[in-house]
Amino acid sequence: MSTTLIEVRAAKACDATAIATAHDEAWRAAYQGIIPGAELGKLINRRGPQWWDSAIRKGSRVSVLCFGDKIAGYANYGRNRARSLHFDGEIYELYLRPEFQGLGFGRRLFTAARRDLIQSGLKSMVIWALSDNETAVGFYRGLGGRMVARSSEQFGAKSLDKVAFAWGN
Ligand SMILES: CC(C)(COP(=O)(O)OP(=O)(O)OC[C@H]1O[C@@H](n2cnc3c(N)ncnc32)[C@H](O)[C@@H]1OP(=O)(O)O)[C@@H](O)C(=O)NCCC(=O)NCCS
Repeated sequence: MSTTLIEVRAAKACDATAIATAHDEAWRAAYQGIIPGAELGKLINRRGPQWWDSAIRKGSRVSVLCFGDKIAGYANYGRNRARSLHFDGEIYELYLRPEFQGLGFGRRLFTAARRDLIQSGLKSMVIWALSDNETAVGFYRGLGGRMVARSSEQFGAKSLDKVAFAWGN
């Protein structure tokens, strides 16, 4: 019998290419039909291996979920960016490659990122999701997130609603 090691750990610069691949696959699957194609392409192209390499080297907090020698997904997080919201921390992104979704890995990444934020003194936190991303909205509600704000974001000619979920405070 063989066993596969599953772990969440801090990303290293050598993970940059695998994270860029996870980002590309997850964003295409999640946002096709929601974000206009040309805009989605631009957003993905901007975030290639070099972008991730630089973010990790600069000390941005990025965690990866490893399934054996594969990177199944990632989360990046830090201080809350929205001044209008009184929460300490924020998970900026949490994405799994499509083949690794629905297996409990999202919960593991979320829990690890939340714990890491709390350990660094950021006790409460928010996550934004596009309202049309029903999977994400269902997932964050399921994890006990309270809907605390609404806003919108422009993607080319299209404006999309987004919602903030909060934990703590
Ligand atoms: C959203 C995402 C991170 C969730 O991760 P996941 O591994 O698929 O979810 P999990 O298997 O860990 O599910 C955790 C819990 O949430 C619940 N859940 C997951 N998706 C749900 C949904 N759409 N509606 C209701 N509950 C949901 C699960 O039932 C599970 O509950 P349980 O632990 O009580 O059984 C993942 O599907 C993903 O990467 N999706 C595409 C990208 C994306 O939308 N990212 C978020 C951007 S803001």
